[in-house]
Amino acid sequence: MKEKILHLLKENEKNFISGQGISENLGVSRTAIWKYINVLKEDGYEIESVSKKGYRLISSPDLLSFEELSENLHTKYIGKNIMYFQTIDSTNNKAKELALDGYPNGTIIISEEQTLGRGRLGRNFVSPKHKGIWLSIILRPDINPMNVPKVTQIGAAAVIKTLDELDIKAHVKWPNDIVLNNKKICGILTEMSGELNKVNYVVMGIGINVNIDVEELPKELRDTATSISYEVGRYIKRKELVSNLLNNFEILYDEFEKNESINTSVRICKESSILIGKEVRIINRGKESIGKAIDLNDEGELLVQFSDGRVEKIISGEISVRGLNGYV
Ligand code: BTN
Repeated sequence: MKEKILHLLKENEKNFISGQGISENLGVSRTAIWKYINVLKEDGYEIESVSKKGYRLISSPDLLSFEELSENLHTKYIGKNIMYFQTIDSTNNKAKELALDGYPNGTIIISEEQTLGRGRLGRNFVSPKHKGIWLSIILRPDINPMNVPKVTQIGAAAVIKTLDELDIKAHVKWPNDIVLNNKKICGILTEMSGELNKVNYVVMGIGINVNIDVEELPKELRDTATSISYEVGRYIKRKELVSNLLNNFEILYDEFEKNESINTSVRICKESSILIGKEVRIINRGKESIGKAIDLNDEGELLVQFSDGRVEKIISGEISVRGLNGYV
């Protein structure tokens, strides 16, 4: 009911709509409407109430609910179904649960905070309330499981493109981090369930530090992590960022669904790669090797050249890539 009232207010944004009108439209008492209006106000909606005129929506908060995201969402299937939480352990965990229950391709699980956000290689991912974007996308590609890591490159390209549209020049630290001014602002965690030659589902989780103060990050992360607002010196509207991200993701993902190609995403990731041309340390199951990152191939794999001239394709998996001087 709260959502229906909000919908009516939004349809008539900046104009008054009478309590009687809402009551007749939705078949609930005026007292009930008054209670829901108060709940909306507590959620952060600025609503003016004037006797004999009714209610008028003045402004909406920066929340990541379906009502707030859908206004600017122009997708066919990504985000048509949005499961929105105030708090959750991990949106990736929830997405896996829902994927098993048969939720469709493109379903989004998004939360205002995560209590057990997860990163790659078993790391945790700090996800404070209302300060970032913590979301997962359920995908059901009909592809060879070997090609699933490509989805991470599509996610990375979508993040880069979305920030670029805000004049924010971020870089990809292959395979799954986005960095701004050499510090991490975003991580991507792609997980899948499948058999040898069949993918049951893919869950791609994206975590973006949007409006976090650096002091809010754990001490041990402050040298390597930051947030967009801290770097650019202004508050960033999360809801616009999410809807633009999903719009961009769908365009890039369509290319992949149709012909398993990620050419556009690879081009974006290559142009904004922070590793290509640099000496890198590759850590694979505890073993380290040093080489020079020279390119990304069409499959989104990193090409690294070693001192003996040998060029190796690095497939994301259990690998961690670091610059020789710290994080990048
Ligand atoms: C990494 O940096 O290693 C990947 C971080 C991925 C974090 C996102 S936040 C939304 C989704 N839910 C999770 O628990 N993790 C991903």
